[in-house]
Amino acid sequence: MTDVASIQSTMAALVAQVEAYNYAYFVADNPLVPDSEYDRVYQALVKLEHAYPAYRLPYSPTMRVGGTKAASFRPVHHTVPMLSLDNAFSDEEVLAFAQRLSERLKTGGMDVDANLAFAAEPKLDGLAVSLSYYQGEFIQGSTRGDGQTGEDITANLKTIRTIPLKLHGAKIPGVLEVRGEVFMTKGGLSALNKRQKDIGDKVFANPRNAAAGSLRQLDPEITRLRPLQFFAYGLGQVQNWPMPTTHSQVMAQLSAWGIPVPPISAVVQGIAGCLRYYYDLQSKRDQLPYDIDGVVYKVDDLRYQQALGFVTRAPRFAIAHKFPAEEQLTQVLAIDFQVGRTGTLTPVAHLSPVLVGGVHVSNATLHNIGEARRKDVRVSDTVIVRRAGDVIPEIVSVLIDRRVPGAPVLELPPVCPVCGGRVVKPETMAAARCSAGLSCPAQLRESLQHFVSRKAMAIDGIGDKWIEQWVEKGLVHNPSDFYHLTLTSLLQCDRMAEKSAQNILHAIEASKQTTLARFLYALGIREVGEATAKALADHFLTLEAILAAEVETLQQVPDVGPVVAEALYLFCHTEANLKVIQALRAAGVSWPRVSVDAIGANPFKAKTVVLTGTLAQLSREEAIERLQRLGAKVTGSVTRKTTWVVVGANAGSKLARATELGIEILTEADFLTKLRDSEQSYA
Ligand code: IVH
Repeated sequence: MTDVASIQSTMAALVAQVEAYNYAYFVADNPLVPDSEYDRVYQALVKLEHAYPAYRLPYSPTMRVGGTKAASFRPVHHTVPMLSLDNAFSDEEVLAFAQRLSERLKTGGMDVDANLAFAAEPKLDGLAVSLSYYQGEFIQGSTRGDGQTGEDITANLKTIRTIPLKLHGAKIPGVLEVRGEVFMTKGGLSALNKRQKDIGDKVFANPRNAAAGSLRQLDPEITRLRPLQFFAYGLGQVQNWPMPTTHSQVMAQLSAWGIPVPPISAVVQGIAGCLRYYYDLQSKRDQLPYDIDGVVYKVDDLRYQQALGFVTRAPRFAIAHKFPAEEQLTQVLAIDFQVGRTGTLTPVAHLSPVLVGGVHVSNATLHNIGEARRKDVRVSDTVIVRRAGDVIPEIVSVLIDRRVPGAPVLELPPVCPVCGGRVVKPETMAAARCSAGLSCPAQLRESLQHFVSRKAMAIDGIGDKWIEQWVEKGLVHNPSDFYHLTLTSLLQCDRMAEKSAQNILHAIEASKQTTLARFLYALGIREVGEATAKALADHFLTLEAILAAEVETLQQVPDVGPVVAEALYLFCHTEANLKVIQALRAAGVSWPRVSVDAIGANPFKAKTVVLTGTLAQLSREEAIERLQRLGAKVTGSVTRKTTWVVVGANAGSKLARATELGIEILTEADFLTKLRDSEQSYA
């Protein structure tokens, strides 16, 4: 082999290797090698290309980085126009669509089954793009534009790592245009918005804006840093390819060539199948990693599609069945301030009731006074409210041109609306707080609820109503008072039966045995959530060490930054808090002392455990909770990274997989022994 040939073949092999790793990592979600190995191969390729730039392959993964900044986007003519879709907002409209189809097909002399097959797909909420492949190589990508002419965003699209630069497999058409949606996952969007906020840049209101804003960047380096994804949903121009007979086959073929397609598509029968798919997906919508605004039904048979044809802007063979809107217009009737556990004053807007995403909404949070002022929400304003998933409804923005003249600007109340305590708002903070601490009944109530909650001291049976009464009757002034409640004092309460009182006392007694992490979390220290409490306990091992730590020492704990450290330090140096801690310990609240030498040896720490089959002695939830408390990670599938597979009755494929991979198997008895031993020392 000549030198040139050997350089070229090494380069091609490295390209193939990196692309295979990329595909496994980004598309199949199943990394083949650790990041270090990926970096090694990638760097070898970069080095070789640097030494021999003339041989750099146009589809090399290194082409995904950067590129030159464009002055503007070149126009691209779509030979096959990029169409839009008709919408249906109700089951009836979908039914009418199906009837139109059958009639048209029958008039055309086609014999259609009542149960016509449809390809049902999620309707992704992003930006439509067209990708052109020439002999399997990605050569050009464009936006939809007006459907006839779009913009050339090739360099930007190349930065999206799930878009293959070269297709794999056989019988790839000479010319292939793939149509699909570029979008951002919910997680990607919130991470991006957090970053944008940190650097003082604009945040995106929704994933569509974020995808569009990221793709239409003249500098591809910016696009590269945006977490964009792509799913195909159809074809544009195709040459030299024997077309399959159905849309679903086309999609399967695209996927086989390495192009991402939505994993939740399905072929369904008739209108009943379509509606079943719709309602099923609607119920799962919140759990999907990306936003969808409905589903799309497409007649699956391509001969029928052809016969049905198009109206001006949309195909007759497809329709988008939209989910109920998650944004609505309404009016602000009033704004008041609620006081939370740490005294934060949260402005809440009371709205003229509206149906948002299928749910009645009459209140929306404004998060904090800083946010409320930024959005400039005023009483009587017309606003856009949004409800997505389980999240609390929020006000997206105000329609300024509908504002009633003279509507007054929202003011912070001078004193706490609950206790009349002083309200403070440091210049640098967005939130205002009531400074009265536990002497403010609202803060006391919220703190007590937090103290007994499941992830804190886990005292069962103490609902909000009891806490309210105990605070009102003066039975409980701080968390340590729970431990001084007696049967007599409880029986003074309205509607308290002796049995419930006994159960409550029992639960309170049982909660005395806890862990340092739970105890810290239960104290309700500002900025110290469950994970931080755990990190603090793992790092310092004793409460005394935390109480004595300086701000700088606290910051040595992973994830503890200056804000958390300050809040914690302040808490630990406030007399009233130390008194409560002392009173709790005096009442008998305690946790196992951990020997400093032993901590490194906790056998579950940072291990990955899979549970399979039915466990006889404890529930799955309990097993997971106890493992997590010991620092283990519990996962659902057995991989090479799994440390132990715990096997209960009737274990199936996971056991087989563990055996195949040579993973250590624990019987329930082995597991319980190990668990208890570890808990004695480390939990
Ligand atoms: S098919 C000829 N399928 O929705 C048919 N479109 O409202 C063209 N969209 O411009 C579109 N998910 O950007 C189709 N599964 C899907 C889709 C989808 C999202 C977008 C697409 C289109 C818009 C029409």
